[in-house]
Amino acid sequence: MKYTNALFIVLILGLVSCADKDDPNYQYFPDMYESLAYETYAEAEIFGQINDGNNQEAMIPVEGSISRGWMPYEYEDNTEGYEAAKAELKNTLAYTEENLAKGKELYDIYCATCHGKKGNGKGWLVQQEKILGVPSYDDAGRAITEGSVYHVMYWGINTMGSYASQMSEKELWQVDHYVMKLKAELEGKPVRALENDPQIQEMPESLADASTAEEGSEMASAE
Ligand code: HEC
Repeated sequence: MKYTNALFIVLILGLVSCADKDDPNYQYFPDMYESLAYETYAEAEIFGQINDGNNQEAMIPVEGSISRGWMPYEYEDNTEGYEAAKAELKNTLAYTEENLAKGKELYDIYCATCHGKKGNGKGWLVQQEKILGVPSYDDAGRAITEGSVYHVMYWGINTMGSYASQMSEKELWQVDHYVMKLKAELEGKPVRALENDPQIQEMPESLADASTAEEGSEMASAE
C-alpha cells in the first residue's frame, strides 16, 4: 500500500514537472485544437496575397454580394425613400394564419414594449414614461401602409431603431402583416380574409378590395 502511494506521488510529480507554462500542454486530439480547415479569424499567409497584405482569413464580401435570406432593399433612408416605399412597396408574403401567428409572436417580442400589444402606442415603456411620441397605428396623420411599415422596420425612424439585424426579411414581412391587422382592428375596419395556400403570392390590392364579390369568390376557392 505504502509503495503504491509513493508510486502515485512520483507519477503525479513526473507529470506536473513536464508542464511548461509557456508551452501548450499535451494535446490528446491535436486535430481538434489545430484545425486543418481554415478558421475564420486565424491568419494564413496565402490570404495576404489576395487581401492587400492582411493575412486574416475572413475577407470583406465581394462587391455586390447579397446576404443569404435577403434581397437588396432599394429604398433609401431618407424622406424620398420613405414616401416611395409608402406609396408602392407591397407585402408579397401570403396572408396566412401561419404568417400572421409568426408576425404576432415577433411583434410581441420586438415592438409591443413601446407600441402596445394592440398597437395603440401605449406599451409598457410608454406607460413608464421611458419613451415619448410612440404613435398609434391608426394615427390618421401618419396613414401607415405596408410599405411604410417595412421601411421604418428596415431603417428605423427617429428614436425607433432598425430591426433589420434582428429579423430576417421574411420575418419583417410577417410582422408587417400583423401591424396592418392591428391597424385595421384599431380603425374598426373589416378583418382581411386569410389565404390558406402559402404558395399564393398575389394579394388583394387593399383591405377594402377584400370585401368585393370578385375577391370574395377568389378567397372562397382558395379555401
Ligand atoms: C423603443 C420603442 C419602440 C420600439 C421597440 C418600436 N418602435 Fe416603432 N416607433 C417608436 C417611436 C418613438 C415612433 C415614432 C417615431 C417618429 O416618427 O418620431 C415609432 C413609429 C413607428 C411607426 C410609424 C412610422 C411612420 O411611418 O410614421 C411604425 C409603423 C412602427 N413604429 C412600427 C414598429 C414595429 C413594427 C416595431 C417592432 C419591429 C416597432 N415599431 C418597435 C418606438 C418604438
